[in-house]
Amino acid sequence: MGVLKDTGAIEYSKGLEGVIAALSSISAIDGNEGKLIYRGIPIEMLAKYSSYEETAYLLLYGDLPTREELDEFSSQMRELRILPKKVEDCVKELPPNPHPMDILKVAVAHAGLYDPDQYRCCREGVMRKVIRIIAQIPTIIAYYHRARTGQEIVPPDQNLGHAANFLYMLHGKKPDEEEARIFDIALILHAEHGLNASTFAAMVTASTLSDINSAIVSAIGALKGPLHGGANERVLKMLDEIGSPDKAEEYVLNALKEKRRIMGFGHRVYKTYDPRARILKEYAEYLSDKYNDRKYISIGEKIEEIMIRELGNKGIFPNVDFYSGIVYQFLGIPRDLFTPVFAMARSVGWAAHVCEYTQNNRIFRPRAYYTGPDYVEYVPIENRR
Ligand code: SDX
Repeated sequence: MGVLKDTGAIEYSKGLEGVIAALSSISAIDGNEGKLIYRGIPIEMLAKYSSYEETAYLLLYGDLPTREELDEFSSQMRELRILPKKVEDCVKELPPNPHPMDILKVAVAHAGLYDPDQYRCCREGVMRKVIRIIAQIPTIIAYYHRARTGQEIVPPDQNLGHAANFLYMLHGKKPDEEEARIFDIALILHAEHGLNASTFAAMVTASTLSDINSAIVSAIGALKGPLHGGANERVLKMLDEIGSPDKAEEYVLNALKEKRRIMGFGHRVYKTYDPRARILKEYAEYLSDKYNDRKYISIGEKIEEIMIRELGNKGIFPNVDFYSGIVYQFLGIPRDLFTPVFAMARSVGWAAHVCEYTQNNRIFRPRAYYTGPDYVEYVPIENRR
C-alpha cells in the first residue's frame, strides 16, 4: 500500500515564521533597524503630519489624497459611521459581561446583514463596504460601552473627525483637542503592520472569495488572542501588580526565571525597539506630566531598562503594546476596550490587504508534513480493547 508520507526535503517553518506569503506594496517593516513605512512614507512622518482619515486613504488607495479627495473620503467616513437602527438596538441589548472583542465580532457580522452594498463585488461597492466597516466599528464600541454602563448612547457628531468623534461618543463630551490629536496619532500607529496574525486571517478568508465582512470578523477573532491583541491591557495590570519602580526588578527577574512573558515586549519581526513604541512612549510621558501622575510611566521605564538589560541581546524590546495602554488610560478609555480600539485602527490595514491580495488572488492552502503512522489496519469495534 503506497503511503502518503512526505519523503522529500521539507521547508517547514513553525507559525510560518519568515515565510513570504504575498507580494504587497502597502507597508514594510525593517525588524533589525526598527523601521515601519506605509506606502513608502515613514511612520514618524505620518504620526507628525497626517490624520487617521488621510492615512486610511493612503493605505486603501496607495497615494496621499488631494484636498478634494480627502474631503470626499472624510465625508464618506462621517456619513457611514451611523449604525442601522436594528444594529444599534442589537448592540444595546447585548450582555454586559462578554469581552468587548466578542461583542465587536457579533456586531460587525450583524451590521454586515444590513449593508446595502452587501452583495456588490464591483470596486466601488467593495470600497463603500470597507469604508462603512471602518467607520462603524468606533460607533459599535462606543454604543456598547455606553449601554453596558447604563448611560444614554451618544450619536456621532458629524463635525468631529474619526478620532475625536470616538472619544465624544465614548465620554459624552467633546474631547480636549490635544488629546483627540494624541488618540488620532495612536490610531495611525496601529493602522497597519503587514501580515500579522489578524491581517493574515482576513486574507485567508478573503482568498476563498468570501465577503469583506466575513474577512473582518475573522481578523477580529484572531486579534482577540492574547499573544496578538490585549497585551496593553495586561501591561497595565502588571504595572498595578508591581505598584512602584523599586519593585520592578524583583518582579521581572522572577517572571523571567519562571519563563513567564512580560507583556508588551518581544516581536516576531522587530528585533529592536518597535518604532511605534518610541512614539507612544513620548505621549505616555507627556500625558503623565500633564496629569501630574508618573506612577505608570516610572514603573514602565524601569521595566524597559531591566528587560533591555536582560533580553536586549535576544532582540526583546518594547513593542507597540507596552506604552499604548498608559496613553489610553489617560484618555479615559476603559482597559477592556484597548483591543477593540486596536481593531478600530487596524480595520483599514485588514481591508487594504484583503483588497490588494484579491486583485491577484490565489486561495491560501498550505500543507502539513504528515508525521503519523504509514499504515494501520481497520479493527472492528468488537475486537478493540
Ligand atoms: C502585536 O505581528 C505583528 O505585527 C503584531 C503586532 C501588530 O501590529 O499587528 O505588532 C501587534 O501582536 C504585538 C505583540 C503583543 N504581544 C505581546 O506583547 C505578548 C508578549 N510577547 C510575546 O509573547 C512574543 O514576543 C510574541 C508573541 C510577540 C512574539 O513571539 P515569537 O516571535 O514567537 O517569539 P518566541 O515565542 O519564539 O520567543 C523567542 C524567545 C523565547 O525564549 P527562549 O524559549 O528562546 O528561551 O524570546 C522569549 C521567549 O520566551 N520571549 C519573551 C517574550 N517574548 C519572547 N520572554 C519574555 N517576555 C516576552 N514578552
